[in-house]
Amino acid sequence: MRRYSIVFITLITIFAFSITFPNSSSAKQTFPYQDPSLPVAQRVKDLLGRMTIEEKIGQMTLVEKNGIIPGDITDKFIGGLLSGGGESPNPNTPQNWVDMLKGFEQQALETRLGIPLIYGIDAVHGHNNVIGAVIYPHNIGLGAANDPDLVQRIGRATAEEMVATGIRWDYAPVVAVAQDIRWGRIYESYSENTDVVTKLSSAFIKGLQGSKLSDPTSVLATPKHFIGDGGTTWGSATTNNYQIDQGDTRVDLPTLRALFLPPYAAAVKDGAMSIMASFSSWNGLKMHAQKALLTDLLKGELGFKGFIVSDWGGIDQITPDYYQAVVTAINAGIDMNMVPTRYQVFIDTMQAAVQKGDISMDRIDDAVGRILTVKFELGLFEKPIADALPISTVGSAAHRALGREAVSKSLVLLQNNNHALPISKDAPQIIVAGSAADDIGSQSGGWTTTWQGQTGDITPGTTILAGIKNAVSKNSTVTYDMAGNFDDLKDSSGNAVMADVGIVVVGEKPYAEGVGDSNNLTLSQANIDLIQQVRQRSKKLIAILISGRPLVITDQLKTTDAFVAAWLPGTEGEGVADVLFGDKPFTGKLPFTWIRAVDQLPLNFKNLSTTGCAAPLFPFGYGLDVNSTEPAIAGACS
Ligand code: BGC
Ligand code: BGC
Repeated sequence: MRRYSIVFITLITIFAFSITFPNSSSAKQTFPYQDPSLPVAQRVKDLLGRMTIEEKIGQMTLVEKNGIIPGDITDKFIGGLLSGGGESPNPNTPQNWVDMLKGFEQQALETRLGIPLIYGIDAVHGHNNVIGAVIYPHNIGLGAANDPDLVQRIGRATAEEMVATGIRWDYAPVVAVAQDIRWGRIYESYSENTDVVTKLSSAFIKGLQGSKLSDPTSVLATPKHFIGDGGTTWGSATTNNYQIDQGDTRVDLPTLRALFLPPYAAAVKDGAMSIMASFSSWNGLKMHAQKALLTDLLKGELGFKGFIVSDWGGIDQITPDYYQAVVTAINAGIDMNMVPTRYQVFIDTMQAAVQKGDISMDRIDDAVGRILTVKFELGLFEKPIADALPISTVGSAAHRALGREAVSKSLVLLQNNNHALPISKDAPQIIVAGSAADDIGSQSGGWTTTWQGQTGDITPGTTILAGIKNAVSKNSTVTYDMAGNFDDLKDSSGNAVMADVGIVVVGEKPYAEGVGDSNNLTLSQANIDLIQQVRQRSKKLIAILISGRPLVITDQLKTTDAFVAAWLPGTEGEGVADVLFGDKPFTGKLPFTWIRAVDQLPLNFKNLSTTGCAAPLFPFGYGLDVNSTEPAIAGACS
């Protein structure tokens, strides 16, 4: 008897406790949605049935972390937060990211139903907002490497660094099949070729998500931007002073499907559960308003069961009438709205639209159901705060080694005369010039610690110059001058000498998105002069191009012996030296056709001349190794 009454009292106590503290752990089993043993669909249904309209609209709201007013995560039931490019805690240390994430998550758990927050970030070449993370080559370089296994391992390593800072949602990969190298996001695209993009983005998604989303080290992938970004027409952009980014893709439906859809079809098959809509338009209508594509094609035909997230304020671009914009976008199939700051206006507009019947409760329940499904599948209800991996995962030696491997595989050898490459590690005099030779920021490009990226010592890593210095033997002297001034290079009697090898690193400065739109894809005059200048002092001259895309180098091939496209390699610059000195072979192949002259743009891939001066300088897939026997001036025409 006594035993029974103790059990009884205990039960009563647990019951009372769960009423007073509905979010305390003893309440975890109170409602079916909190029971991890039930199927996800059942948990979603149960939770949806308990939610007010305010709570539902909150789930559909994704706010930039600097835009959130303290207390609003709890008070407005906000479903997601993000860090925009470069939006980091201050100071930007991995530990501060963890603490920041915990703080936000805690506020979500304080709501009536305790629905966890999902936090997203653009980890597009490693966990690139975090100082100290390993920065991998941008996608264009990985397209040159064209090695799915490598890309999958990079996806996994990126996920691990994210999880170590408490983040489980990545706005990557970009699966755009870019058709115009003037686009400022060209380097985010693996290739102009649909198959290459499909294969590599698929591998990246597998790496991020691991074998199942519920694994605490898995990260939710977001293939983006659906659909047709990278296919826009020069001059069609309407944002800021952009030219092509966020512009209009003018192709018929069969072309749109053939060129741009396969990566999404593969991603859905591989279990992608979040997809970002594109800022761009298709034949004049903003993608965020394209119901036939978002709902009928993606969710219907492809059977996508996850949620569609808008791009940054993307809904606002549909029409200046905000009410109309919201109604159109949500009815077209956008499930979660990335509102950088004006979330109150969005919430009020949603309320009004639901009240007026312009957005149905069915549509709301469908959107929220999709979002909750993903949160359940990620296991966020059981583990809202990601702590599966230690902080030391960020920038680990293993990840740096992987970055170095990726760099060496991504380099494309465009020309190699006079056996300039490989360089002997005993070459007595090596001179190096160009500011990009010794600059982590330049070699990493946009989306590195800040949105646009910047030159300089922005995050730990090894510069190309440091890699060269580490590679040579003690018999070799490496002299660096940024401006290529080697007047001091004299023999014992004071006569100017020629270096055995000159290495000049030229290229583009960092940029991101439409800021990088450009139809002036030539080397700067300063770079052209630098090549000339170092030529005067070098027996053999090697040029290394750091750029997000092919640039016109037709004349510079004549001045140089060897020419290497290094893209935007990231923090592990030793990977460049590994191939320059022959420790590793050149295996990279061009993921984009290389232009001969600016007036060839846009290249018409369907109708490319393959011979004569109208042909591109180098075709898609071109790339030498050091033993290739090629014409003295590669790409020459007459
Ligand atoms: C970009 C997206 C990115 C988002 C969040 C937008 O400007 O187009 O690719 O995911 O910002 O940073
Ligand atoms: C943000 C980026 C975003 C961009 C959109 C920037 O301020 O940091 O994440 O992609 O704005 O224009």
